[in-house]
Amino acid sequence: MTTLGTPLSPSATKVMLLGSGELGKEVLIALQRLGVETIAVDRYANAPGHQVAHRAHTIAMSDPAQLKALIEQERPHLVVPEIEAIATPMLQELEAAGVVTVIPTARAARLTMDREGIRRLAAETLGLPTSPYRFCDSLAELQAAIDNGIGYPCIVKPVMSSSGKGQSKIDGPADVQKAWDYAMAGGRVSHGRIIVEGFIRFDYEITQLTVRARGADGQIETHFCDPIGHVQVSGDYVESWQPHPMSAVALQKSRDIAKAITDNLGGLGLFGVELFVAGDQVWFSEVSPRPHDTGMVTMATQWQNEFELHARAILGLPVDASLKSPGASAVIYGGVDATGIAFDGVDEALRVPGTELRLFGKPESFVKRRMGVALARHGDVEQARANAKLAAAKVRPRAA
Ligand SMILES: Nc1ncnc2c1ncn2[C@@H]1O[C@H](COP(=O)(O)OP(=O)(O)O)[C@@H](O)[C@H]1O
Ligand SMILES: [Mg+2]
Repeated sequence: MTTLGTPLSPSATKVMLLGSGELGKEVLIALQRLGVETIAVDRYANAPGHQVAHRAHTIAMSDPAQLKALIEQERPHLVVPEIEAIATPMLQELEAAGVVTVIPTARAARLTMDREGIRRLAAETLGLPTSPYRFCDSLAELQAAIDNGIGYPCIVKPVMSSSGKGQSKIDGPADVQKAWDYAMAGGRVSHGRIIVEGFIRFDYEITQLTVRARGADGQIETHFCDPIGHVQVSGDYVESWQPHPMSAVALQKSRDIAKAITDNLGGLGLFGVELFVAGDQVWFSEVSPRPHDTGMVTMATQWQNEFELHARAILGLPVDASLKSPGASAVIYGGVDATGIAFDGVDEALRVPGTELRLFGKPESFVKRRMGVALARHGDVEQARANAKLAAAKVRPRAA
């Protein structure tokens, strides 16, 4: 049985989001709707989620002492990581001491903050199909890994990075040094470890949103959303749509892989399992133990979007992962480096039939920073994609 309290009272059910960007903001809104007391944490003031929570805190979440002090001060029932760059060993310590419950588990947060942890688990422990890979600590090791099996083309990524940062493709020997230098500059921490992966010539890639939620008998059940197709440019998502058509065999393999990895990570909540598909062949790429950026499309396509699914699952409530309508999302980039920007053309964008917008309210814009997203629903997924892109293009951010 789940009992929820009244916010700002002794009965409150308190949830702390670690990371309060556009994804955290939507999780916070979903929690607010259930009367949960919400605490939003980010590394900078006035982050999107800060603006919709009962309390906002600005700390360095990668600093174990700051993280511990804030959790002990707020005493949330649940701690929900929204980003990877968190002092996860401290979360493990606090979870082991019974101080907090981490979503989905502190171990999952720790394994997925580092490409090495999750890749070794998927490929070596669980035997899931992945690209061929090696971990390297120097340019010489990278060259040796390529020469002794990985081959060209291949992809280099810092082990601690996300959203394509420091990631590049190597087509031949002339690119190796450049890729190494780029990875060294783009990693989240300064130590120089990278993963080099053989390039998979996939037909398409999907995100398999997978929810672990409690059933009526108290057992944890696994629910699958319809597959989300997406396009990535330089390792960053630019558009997504749902459902993506798949063969029955590829869909079953995708769900088997998603089930295997999420069963192992455990806990309650929604996961974004990234998969590459060619014909009936499926490769595991990576997994987020939290809502996924490509899953923003579900705000237009599902009865319960990925944020509502996450909120419900972590509170022990039942979920419905079914599709409402096909649809698409298209990212709106800042286009300028400026603070407090203005968005022209919002009315024109919303005149595109069946569309919605989310403007995240980020205080500072960069040329390549995601500042909003256009959503479109349409019975024909290709038309939805066209409408989402059209609406996104009509929003014109500018320095105010
Ligand atoms: N081994 C690979 N072969 C082909 N494409 C890849 C490979 N690895 C990554 N990519 C492409 O780069 C994108 C980003 O890579 P990913 O590992 O998901 O990094 P991030 O953690 O930054 O999202 C993928 O969605 C895919 O489009
Ligand atoms: Mg990814």
